[in-house]
Amino acid sequence: MRILIADQIHPEGIYYLKNAGFDVEEKLDLRNDELMNEIPIYDALIVRSKTKVTKEIIQAGTNLLVIGRAGVGLDNVDVVSAKERNIKVLNTPDVSTTSVAELVMGFMISAMRHIPQATASIKSGEWKKERFAGKELAGKTLGIVGIGRIGNAVAKRAASFDMEVIGFDPYVNNSERIQSVNFDTLLSKSDVVSFHVPLTESTYHMLSLKEIRKMKKGVVIINASRGGIIDEEGLKQGLDEGIVGAVALDTFELEKPFSTVLAGYENFIATPHIGAQTEEAQRRAGIEIAKVLANYLRDNKS
Ligand code: MLT
Repeated sequence: MRILIADQIHPEGIYYLKNAGFDVEEKLDLRNDELMNEIPIYDALIVRSKTKVTKEIIQAGTNLLVIGRAGVGLDNVDVVSAKERNIKVLNTPDVSTTSVAELVMGFMISAMRHIPQATASIKSGEWKKERFAGKELAGKTLGIVGIGRIGNAVAKRAASFDMEVIGFDPYVNNSERIQSVNFDTLLSKSDVVSFHVPLTESTYHMLSLKEIRKMKKGVVIINASRGGIIDEEGLKQGLDEGIVGAVALDTFELEKPFSTVLAGYENFIATPHIGAQTEEAQRRAGIEIAKVLANYLRDNKS
């Protein structure tokens, strides 16, 4: 059976598939039309987030049995079209939990202690102690939006920093570590708010200026889940009105090409969607997707 790997995955994943007897070809950086031409001969396609698996590609994949996404989010795969054609879509939901949770803790500390700004200042030859007076995490309330795997992993780490942790999730209200509250209560009580929800019609712009105006003055807002959940125009306004104390984002509404209205703000810190971009998470993703995809092909070969 033939497997096309269209985005780079960890070599151990490729090794696993080859060793299991599959015919594996790695063709990275294909344009959409090139992928459409290539796809008909393959039984399986593996991508990360770069390749967009559109309806056209799925329709062109006349032999496709399965699409594997090495990572969590399925926003780059047209899962509806895949379902219509009876093509299984597999992902690796657990592999990046620790990496994302650690990045979020890094954001919290960086925002409270101004580490990126102080680094830039030091590098420009300044020594401005007073300018970088910060705040402790201990004793602050962390509001987690989305009480899933990553939300819980952040809560565990925040508790070890002596933070109070509350959370809101429309579908989950039992977590050992997180006291469930409604969204308005979370907004009004939290000193730091971190988002851990997928991007759906109901989460799109779930934080806009209207909600920001319900938040505590000086609140730190963090998003390492998906761009589009927070309305960046609203955040800008919240910063201008002095409600938002700092913003830390790993994900943006416009990532490729990248653009944000927040770019010029001193108390805005950011990374280019690197939540899962660690050696460990990428290795786990490559191996895990290889295993689940191989199992699926073995179980479903005709
Ligand atoms: C994921 O969904 O796996 C992460 O956000 C990483 C990514 O999409 O690049």
